[in-house]
Amino acid sequence: MRAFGRLLTFGLVTVASPTAAQFTSYISEFIRVNYTLDGNWNSSTSVAQETIVNAAQWFAAQGPWSVMNKTYLAPSNDSHDYLSWAPYYIANCSNVQNTTELTPQQIWTECDYVNEDGVFSPDVRLVNDTGNFQAMSDAVFYNTLAYRITGDVSYANTVVWFIDIWFLNNATYMNPNLDYAQVVRGVNGSHGGTHYGVLDLHGMTKVASAVLVLRASQAAAWTSSLDQAFSAWCTEYVNWLTTSTLGLGELASTNNHGTFAFNQVAAIQAMLGNSSAAKATLNQYFNGIYQNQIIANGDQPLESARTRPYHYRAYNAAAVITIHRIGDYLGLNTWNTTTAAGANIQTAVDFAMPIAPGADAPDELYPDVAAIASHFGDPTGKYAAWLAQKDPLYPAEANFFWSQPLGDSGLKVTEEQLLNPNGTGTSTASGSSATGGSTKSGAMQAWATPSVMLFSMTALALGAVGLI
Ligand SMILES: *[C@@H]1O[C@H](CO)[C@@H](O)[C@H](O)[C@H]1NC(C)=O
Ligand SMILES: *[C@@H]1O[C@H](CO)[C@@H](O)[C@H](O)[C@H]1NC(C)=O
Ligand SMILES: *[C@@H]1O[C@H](CO)[C@@H](O)[C@H](O)[C@H]1NC(C)=O
Ligand SMILES: *[C@@H]1O[C@H](CO)[C@@H](O)[C@H](O)[C@H]1NC(C)=O
Ligand SMILES: *[C@@H]1O[C@H](CO)[C@@H](O)[C@H](O)[C@H]1NC(C)=O
Ligand SMILES: *[C@@H]1O[C@H](CO)[C@@H](O)[C@H](O)[C@H]1NC(C)=O
Ligand SMILES: *[C@@H]1O[C@H](CO)[C@@H](O)[C@H](O)[C@H]1NC(C)=O
Ligand SMILES: *[C@@H]1O[C@H](CO)[C@@H](O)[C@H](O)[C@H]1NC(C)=O
Ligand SMILES: *[C@@H]1O[C@H](CO)[C@@H](O)[C@H](O)[C@H]1NC(C)=O
Ligand SMILES: *[C@@H]1O[C@H](CO)[C@@H](O)[C@H](O)[C@H]1NC(C)=O
Ligand SMILES: *[C@@H]1O[C@H](CO)[C@@H](O)[C@H](O)[C@H]1NC(C)=O
Repeated sequence: MRAFGRLLTFGLVTVASPTAAQFTSYISEFIRVNYTLDGNWNSSTSVAQETIVNAAQWFAAQGPWSVMNKTYLAPSNDSHDYLSWAPYYIANCSNVQNTTELTPQQIWTECDYVNEDGVFSPDVRLVNDTGNFQAMSDAVFYNTLAYRITGDVSYANTVVWFIDIWFLNNATYMNPNLDYAQVVRGVNGSHGGTHYGVLDLHGMTKVASAVLVLRASQAAAWTSSLDQAFSAWCTEYVNWLTTSTLGLGELASTNNHGTFAFNQVAAIQAMLGNSSAAKATLNQYFNGIYQNQIIANGDQPLESARTRPYHYRAYNAAAVITIHRIGDYLGLNTWNTTTAAGANIQTAVDFAMPIAPGADAPDELYPDVAAIASHFGDPTGKYAAWLAQKDPLYPAEANFFWSQPLGDSGLKVTEEQLLNPNGTGTSTASGSSATGGSTKSGAMQAWATPSVMLFSMTALALGAVGLI
């Protein structure tokens, strides 16, 4: 096992008391294993490394999570069944006479539920397996990276604890299927899940990626019995994904739903060491739904037709980027694969960059831009300059650590600024503006509010949960 490149002292991070929305929940990630093992990271990433360790500590303090945490059971009455309700179905009780006297259970079973794309049902997270899974996947992902960055085994122990509680522990495990994900409520509801619910577990790519890193690190906490038990769970789950009506329905979806389903299947197959199956999954994606996802000018028509085009373009692009990164892990180089119209993921992100976000969170596109720059290169510096203009703190964002190489635009975000956000007020920029106007609100407030600090991509953390 290789030595850690550097052991940083993170005593400084305890000065801050980060709050929930500060840490980015990346919708889907798959990290180069060798990069995490390397340890010889560019010093420009040191603040991003601190962000990761802070995020690891914050998420660790919230867990563990399990499907047992919810108050209401799935229709099966099996407490080990994952349950979520379809987010964009809103109750309309005009079909029942005395609306005001209805109990919640009566509303859920007797009223009419009307589909309104992009509008969240206000009570949908009363059952929060979706949010809890996402938090678990973030905790696993960040704590794995924090283990690599610091060498402190307590982070690896946290990962093992959380994986055990969610997936494996006899008292708390989740059944390896999504038979009751995104159930449509109401008098004419679906009773069982809908295929859209497969999206709820988009965070599996982060969990699979983390397990590959722990395994390759030969982390003592990741024992062979744990590896076998988790692999057995994933074998059952990927079998469900690829053979059940709901799994097949999601894989047949032509838009981001399909992309995220292929993400899960390929990441799990790669984690299981079944590289022939993973490669076949990638082929099926690139020769299938991918072909119609990006048109010649780079737009993603299946996403831009939706209610929140900026969000959905960034969202599907993130899933496409993850597929390419899984390809890298498998020794393929799929990034230049073109769609029927001759476009690729770079074309798609280039198209999305100049478009105003409207009511959507602008920062959702930033990790996509960083990923494109790190893979395709940034010879003219246009990606780095764009990021600097939108987010003067981008070298402090967690993804700046793994989307490398990527220039830092001369933005020397220092530890002092991290500690004293009321201090100098700006990071020093050489060559590009550090005061971009249309940046995310969190970053602009960062200097005024110590608890907000450098961690700002709130919209990803909040908006990404359970979107369909
Ligand atoms: C990762 O590193 C190992 C050991 O140096 C090497 O055998 C393997 O090919 C590398 N994998 C990739 C994808 O670079
Ligand atoms: C969720 O469930 C796990 C496992 O039973 C438990 O350890 C944890 O305390 C629960 N969390 C909450 C908020 O109830
Ligand atoms: C679940 O429990 C409820 C309430 O006890 C019952 O009405 C229902 O039939 C049960 N469903 C199944 C599938 O057992
Ligand atoms: C509820 O449904 C009724 C009957 O279709 C309709 O008239 C009413 O506008 C709906 N209410 C809302 C808030 O959508
Ligand atoms: C409607 O109101 C009546 C009288 O108060 C009550 O008995 C009944 O349970 C109510 N029905 C619903 C669906 O709330
Ligand atoms: C539910 O479906 C039944 C049968 O199709 C239909 O008669 C009824 O109007 C529907 N109810 C509502 C509230 O849409
Ligand atoms: C759902 O879970 C997430 C992660 O644990 C949490 O941040 C969020 O506040 C929860 N939502 C509700 C409505 O409880
Ligand atoms: C797991 O729980 C079930 C039901 O509570 C019990 O019958 C079984 O013996 C337990 N298995 C283990 C390995 O503890
Ligand atoms: C790999 O995946 C394929 C397709 O799901 C499956 O048929 C095969 O049994 C798997 N191989 C191993 C070694 O698990
Ligand atoms: C991908 O396309 C770029 C730009 O056309 C080219 O420079 C690069 O060599 C291609 N890479 C592969 C692996 O084909
Ligand atoms: C490290 O990052 C800086 C800032 O982006 C860059 O100028 C430098 O070339 C990088 N060093 C290496 C060895 O890649």
